[in-house]
Amino acid sequence: MTGPVTLSYEGPIAIMTIDNPPVNALSYAVIDGIKAAFDTFEASECEALVIACAGRTFVAGADINTFDDADFSAAPFNALIGRIEASPRPVAAALFGTVLGGGLELAMACHIRVAHPATRLGLPEVHLGLIPGSLGTQRLPRLAGLAKAFEMISTGTPISAEHAVGAGIVDHIADDPKGAAIHAVADYAHSHQPPRRASELTIPDIDQAPEIIAQAKAAAEAKPFLPTLGAIAAALEAATRSFAEGERVEAAEFEKLRATTTSRALRHIFFAEREAQRVPGLPKDIQARPIKSVGIVGVGTMGGGIAMTFANAGIPVTLVETSQEALDRGIGIIEKNYAGTVSRGRLTEEAAKERRALMTGATGMEALAEADLIIEAVFEDMSLKLDVARKLGEVAKPGAIIATNTSTLDVDKIAEATGRPADALGTHFFSPAHIMKLLEVVRGAQTAPDVLYTVMKLSKTIGKTAVVSGVCYGFIGNRMTEMYLRESEAMILEGATPQQIDKVVESPRWLGLAMGPNRMGDMAGVDVMARIVNEWVESGEGPQAPSYRALVRALFHLGKFGQKTGEGLYLYEGRKPIPNPATEALAKELAAMHNIAPREHSEQEIFERLIYPMVNEAALILMEGIAYRPGDIDVVWTSGYGWPTWRGGPLFMADEIGVGEIVARMDHYAATLGNEHGYWTVAPLLRELAASGQRISDWRPAS
Ligand code: COA
Ligand code: NAD
Repeated sequence: MTGPVTLSYEGPIAIMTIDNPPVNALSYAVIDGIKAAFDTFEASECEALVIACAGRTFVAGADINTFDDADFSAAPFNALIGRIEASPRPVAAALFGTVLGGGLELAMACHIRVAHPATRLGLPEVHLGLIPGSLGTQRLPRLAGLAKAFEMISTGTPISAEHAVGAGIVDHIADDPKGAAIHAVADYAHSHQPPRRASELTIPDIDQAPEIIAQAKAAAEAKPFLPTLGAIAAALEAATRSFAEGERVEAAEFEKLRATTTSRALRHIFFAEREAQRVPGLPKDIQARPIKSVGIVGVGTMGGGIAMTFANAGIPVTLVETSQEALDRGIGIIEKNYAGTVSRGRLTEEAAKERRALMTGATGMEALAEADLIIEAVFEDMSLKLDVARKLGEVAKPGAIIATNTSTLDVDKIAEATGRPADALGTHFFSPAHIMKLLEVVRGAQTAPDVLYTVMKLSKTIGKTAVVSGVCYGFIGNRMTEMYLRESEAMILEGATPQQIDKVVESPRWLGLAMGPNRMGDMAGVDVMARIVNEWVESGEGPQAPSYRALVRALFHLGKFGQKTGEGLYLYEGRKPIPNPATEALAKELAAMHNIAPREHSEQEIFERLIYPMVNEAALILMEGIAYRPGDIDVVWTSGYGWPTWRGGPLFMADEIGVGEIVARMDHYAATLGNEHGYWTVAPLLRELAASGQRISDWRPAS
């Protein structure tokens, strides 16, 4: 037998081995292979069967790629695992790694499950906008109870092997699950007991079904924009009637979900996050530089968070500040952060101590002489950054990587100042750096391929979702945000209120971000935003129209910095934003000053004016080669700015709306609002895609 599934024998026990790297996903070839191997087993005299896997994990799920196939059907696999379960001879699954989705569904159709202690088991389909489609909604409640099934299916969070034993999902834990599974099926076969079939069990907490189903329905009603939740409730409710009824409902609900925008968006993000890790054009034999220690210059908001990120991943960090006092303050904040995590029960005292012990402080750059990677996170001031870069170029050992955390400054200039630009690049962490997933890795003009490769690989070790950006103002994310903030402020000067704008952005009907632009601006700091805008404009590179972001610049001038001063775009009662009449008055004053006529803003106009210029900017970012691919831009927004994953990022959403429609509306605003400053000039790429009817998500650079 060749292919990804083979059958071997240990005495009277047949062993089916699935070998489909990297995660033994259930491709068509694997399903065919399981069927052929099971046919052989059935035709044999073997006493029992063990299903095992080669490589790093038991089956980690269905092959998500196949969900896009027009003729995809879960039915053949479901019938196959039904045959496995119906077998009169015992079948065991030998579990290790990440037993997810279709992997757990295959295991639940077996009669015995033996797991390695480090196994994680789960039904994560909800993260793909789906419900389990191979009877997971039916066998899990019968093994573990409805309440547990609801919890696992609705959160998608995997559980440990030990937890799975307690829940009745796993029968035994063993360091050698395959060996233990062979023993278990042999014993079972000799006991002559009929195999235990999950589909025939009574749901253990059936008496609590009304409450649990009501809870599932309430969860669905609370988030009507997530169709998965309603499907979970329907499938679990059907499970309480009969297995056959449950099978029918699960199949129908799964099929409906597979075609929804939500599920397609989530699948798009799953693959886009992984594709973003791949740097095109790297030599095949490229080697990462070893990163065993990290240096950080500047232990402020960002430096402290970045230090925690590395210490959390077990990597020692040397922290450098200008004075002992600044160092003590920075480290004090880190310690307070860890203490907070311990008190919330998310970290043990011991683990916090271990992490803190990985940090050493110093007040001179010489302490960084042995660091493999040095990240500079000093104030956003070019002359200071250049000075620090020069010093780092002198003290860093040969081969060390030198990174800057700048959010807006020219990474190439900073790289040049190190005297070894091939070793330099940008690492743009987001605040709070130890929490936010996104890391924009900024590729300088001279960054060596192995330096880029090393940092991309390292990003996974430190739990970040990395996206490469070229050098430009604001990189991918903040460059697009600038368009969004520009239009938000422009509409306020035209008479819209901050709360009216935020409401549209926060409403799942339109977008569903946790915070609209004005709440976000007040939280990030009006002062921070205004300083960046002022510097950009004053450098001559930013827009020169006097009305450009006039509101935030005026608020800054008035000392209204947002949440931290109790007043900005909003007024604050503690942390609660309330409408600010002073903002409306200021907006009127500025409108008069800049000859801006008042306008009514429908929700649709607010949405279009915030989002379409961002999509247009993304098209420019692609044309300039700043981002490698459209999916990278979507990942920046879902990982760094709270764009709902179920909307798939701004470009996936643009395709759902239609690029042609976006271009037509950009033209409409150019005609109605005027295009004196070029704000509504459509990017050539967007116009080309609209003309040819192509999706921007499918666009790839010519080379
Ligand atoms: N179908 C198709 N491809 C899959 C896959 C699946 N179910 N699960 C993982 N892959 C691919 C990834 O795309 C990636 O491919 P690449 O190397 O070409 O980019 C590769 O397998 C490794 O995945 P990655 O996520 O980078 O590895 P990891 O070790 O960090 O995580 C998993 C492994 C299994 C935990 C993770 O991939 C995962 O959660 N997969 C999805 C599981 C799932 O949802 N199953 C239910 C499907 S209905
Ligand atoms: P911060 O003001 O909180 O901290 C800067 C720290 O650098 C201070 O503690 C200061 O004492 C120290 N410092 C200054 N000069 C130094 C020197 N010569 N040697 C050693 N330490 C020195 O600033 P921050 O918000 O952490 O920002 C740091 C960098 O990160 C900036 O480039 C900023 O643009 C960028 N950034 C900030 C955010 C954010 O949200 N705060 C997000 C992304 C990127």
